[in-house]
Order: sequence, then structure tokens, then C-alpha cells
Amino acid sequence: MGAVGEFADGVLTKVTADGAWFVVVREGDAWYAFPDRCTHAKRPLSDGTFEGGVVTCIYHGATFDLNRDGKATMPAVRALSCHAVVVEGDEVFVEA
Ligand code: FES
Repeated sequence: MGAVGEFADGVLTKVTADGAWFVVVREGDAWYAFPDRCTHAKRPLSDGTFEGGVVTCIYHGATFDLNRDGKATMPAVRALSCHAVVVEGDEVFVEA
């Protein structure tokens, strides 16, 4: 899916895995992956911002806490599904 060096710290990076779009982001040694689709109105979360394990959708302001199982804030109701990221050597993989 990509090399570790392709993922800058705190930058939401859009990738494909098993035919679906995901966003991968790293923060220090912590890696996160989730679908590139807000649970509110299905807009791309890769357009949003990320800080402290929380992704914010730029369209209507919902937030998803990736350290709390993708817990959502309004206007989103459903949590974001979090996917495991596996780093093997220099390669990054998302478990879709
Ligand atoms: S589409 Fe993300 S908050 Fe509405």
C-alpha cells in the first residue's frame, strides 16, 4: 500500500485496500486507518483535519475520536470504523 516515508506525521493520506478507499494517518508511532467516508453525509474525510487522534470532517464539523473506537460527535451519530494498520519493515498495510 505504501512505504512508511510516504506518510507524513499528522497528514491524512488517501489509500486503496481491497477496492475501497481508506485514510491512513500516523501520529508519532501511532497509526490509524478508517474509511474515507464520513458517517454523517458520506463526504470524504481525507479533506478534513487531524490532531490528537481526532479527525474532523470539514463539511459539517463532526469529529471522530480514533482513540475511543471512532466515537462521533454531532452532526454525525455513528462511530467511524477503525481498521488496524500493520507496518512490516518499510511497508504499511491496512487490514480492510
Ligand atoms: S459529511 Fe462529515 S460532518 Fe457532514
